[in-house]
Amino acid sequence: MKDKQVTLFGASGLIGGVLIKQLLEDPSISKIKIASRGPIKFVHEKIIFFQISFSDQKELEKSVADSVVVFSTIGSTKAKVNGDKNAYRRIDFDINLSIAKSCLKMKVNQFQLVSSGGADASSKNFYLKLKGEIEVAVFDLKLPSAVILRPSLLLGKRNEFRFGEKIAQILMPLFSFLFSDNYKPIKATSVAKSMLKYSKIKPLGNHVIYNKEMIKDL
Ligand SMILES: NC(=O)c1ccc[n+]([C@@H]2O[C@H](COP(=O)([O-])OP(=O)(O)OC[C@H]3O[C@@H](n4cnc5c(N)ncnc54)[C@H](OP(=O)(O)O)[C@@H]3O)[C@@H](O)[C@H]2O)c1
Repeated sequence: MKDKQVTLFGASGLIGGVLIKQLLEDPSISKIKIASRGPIKFVHEKIIFFQISFSDQKELEKSVADSVVVFSTIGSTKAKVNGDKNAYRRIDFDINLSIAKSCLKMKVNQFQLVSSGGADASSKNFYLKLKGEIEVAVFDLKLPSAVILRPSLLLGKRNEFRFGEKIAQILMPLFSFLFSDNYKPIKATSVAKSMLKYSKIKPLGNHVIYNKEMIKDL
């Protein structure tokens, strides 16, 4: 069932958790490989779970083998890495690039990565630069189809409490009319819907999907 199998990295996170539900409900997808460093809460006959070490390229390759689309929503936060920029980069850049390289090696048709609104490799802001750099590195691989999504502030229920994000989630929607569509807060469900949509379209080459496009996918 090669044509209906996908792989998801990041299932334990906000977007990943929403995406997995949408993938489970989609009858055109028969198998979902989930690769994670720890256990996951989802049990379903469509799910094949791999607990892996992200530094092991062979395990990454096994996780993406025979999938037509691979999604990564992996990323960290400043708080989680205790402000360590190298540790941040090892996750947002190194892990995602290793996944993209395993897609190239295993001839996966499409790789999708969630980046961030404002991503820019030449930015002076560490986070936006990091996101921009991983975008460039992924696009440089020239995969058959690479889709990078750039959401603004994510709205949705998390398993964990993030103080700064919670405040932003309360305040930003109130002033949302002041922002252009590319910077308005966006529901994690809308991002996941766009991911599912592009997994079916499979546009050839490199593509950036902006917040203003995803926000329409309610
Ligand atoms: N929060 C926002 O408002 C916002 C806005 C724009 C863009 N983004 C970006 O969008 C992406 C998805 O966001 P999200 O909020 O859905 O993310 P999230 O909830 O923080 O989930 C992140 C995922 O990355 C995994 N991960 C983190 N460190 C890892 C490591 N060292 N090894 C393996 N897996 C690791 C986590 O797995 P574990 O459970 O194993 O830790 C989790 O599945 C991220 O790249 C984020 O930077 C976020």
